[in-house]
Amino acid sequence: MKRLVLISALLLLLLILTSLSVGSEDISQGKSAVTKADPLGFPEEDYTVKNVTVNTSDGQVQVVYRLYEHITYVGNPVDTNYQSMRVMVPIEVDGKEIDASNAPILFVNSVGGYMSASNENRGMDREFHANMSGSLPIGVNGMPPAGMNGTAPIAGMGRAPSAEGGISKNSDLALAAGFVVVEPGCRGRDNQATNGTYYGKAAAAIVDLKAAVRYIRHNDETMPGNANWIISTGVSAGGALSALLGASGSSHLYDAHLKEIGAADENDSIYASAAFCPIADLEHADMAYEWEFGTVPINGQMVDQELSQQLRDAFAVYMASLSLKGENNFGAITADNYGDYLVQNYLIPSANRYLSALTDEERKSYLAENTWISWSGNSAEFRFEDYAAHVGRMKSLPAFDAFDLSAAENIEFGNETTNARHFTIFSLRHASGDQNAEIDSGLTTVVNLMNPMFFISQNNSGCARYWWIRHGTADSNTALTVISNLAISLENRGKDVNALLYWDAGHGADEDAEDFIAWIREITGYNPHLA
Ligand code: DHB
Repeated sequence: MKRLVLISALLLLLLILTSLSVGSEDISQGKSAVTKADPLGFPEEDYTVKNVTVNTSDGQVQVVYRLYEHITYVGNPVDTNYQSMRVMVPIEVDGKEIDASNAPILFVNSVGGYMSASNENRGMDREFHANMSGSLPIGVNGMPPAGMNGTAPIAGMGRAPSAEGGISKNSDLALAAGFVVVEPGCRGRDNQATNGTYYGKAAAAIVDLKAAVRYIRHNDETMPGNANWIISTGVSAGGALSALLGASGSSHLYDAHLKEIGAADENDSIYASAAFCPIADLEHADMAYEWEFGTVPINGQMVDQELSQQLRDAFAVYMASLSLKGENNFGAITADNYGDYLVQNYLIPSANRYLSALTDEERKSYLAENTWISWSGNSAEFRFEDYAAHVGRMKSLPAFDAFDLSAAENIEFGNETTNARHFTIFSLRHASGDQNAEIDSGLTTVVNLMNPMFFISQNNSGCARYWWIRHGTADSNTALTVISNLAISLENRGKDVNALLYWDAGHGADEDAEDFIAWIREITGYNPHLA
């Protein structure tokens, strides 16, 4: 009996203790729900103060800014070295205090060659980091991917330091204008785990960039900058991703991927998108390349004309499917009249801007070297074919879906266990010798998720309203029609598009960075310097 009482007393004690501990856990949990930080919360107080001297055409501007480093923007990261971002908030411009709480946010991705963009927390300074992330993409066998010309892009964004004595890159100009700058890292085609699996193949990069946008919107109350004024920018592959971010805003097609990485449950549409030489519309880029460069020799030789013609024919079908309308009652743009349209609407205005800015002497000598251009009544005149020959062909056939799977894009469209895959029926059938081969439906979905043209053609309602599109006329990394199709299809859907070509400029050129900043002021109406 005594034993029974003892056991009962012990049991009672255990029960009391358990209930007490559950109770205290409840209390602490309840408390933590109030005070425990949101895992996707913005670390308001965790910054260092930095200075930067910004070169503008009005002279140097001194900017003091808060630097928030290595903020992981997803709740369930695959690799925080990539799924993190840097935030810069100007607090003083030329000694004048700036309140950036409602400023536009320049969202600068530094992707090149569809490689990952690192945001490693090494405490390195921005210039060093910019150089690192702007370094050359590596393809199979450690070689630059097929068609990459071996030079890092020259222009602004996070990818290259400013030219000495020149105008600063656009992220620094943005700080000087009082804008918040966000530099997100993201996964890319090179990411490989120690067990050999790949974790950054398409569509990882765009999923990450969307997650970063969602993070900003999630923290709109506490994070400086206005989440409704996100202006994305990028160069080349980064330009294509920037365009994709703009075109695919709030699409539900990425939901499962975003959920998997623990992205904030927010809308990911953006206000404006800037795309510098976007290497976009990848599944139609081979056709477009043959349309422009099919009869232009490469290393003194012509590519296979039969295959080139097949791709040119496919381009005509593709253009018909887009139903693009040219400006000034030009009517339907087709493969047959596109050259004329580009000359009149894009190339001659570009040549004229360039030639008119030269002295008579300089112009005379330029025209003597470029006899394919005639100059009369203060305007250039030339044929598209002569322009294409002047630029020259850079990539072999096919330019993007290489038969030997060596192109950057083949590797971008790999999957967890396969490094590189074909993503067009043309190359798949040619390489496999199977005329009935089809692209795997899972891959077709991924190809769509990587293409801004897919979302524009679908009239995606979350598509950005404002667009800044730039490309150098001497850049043969992709066909000019990739850039103009993007601009025209947006215009045809009523978007506000500011598109122009830099005459004779190469890959990654950014020749009007200050105009870009002025354009952001214009589309947002934000100008703290007038306040
Ligand atoms: C880039 C350049 C290319 O020619 C290409 O095919 C893909 C990407 C780049 O510079 O990002």
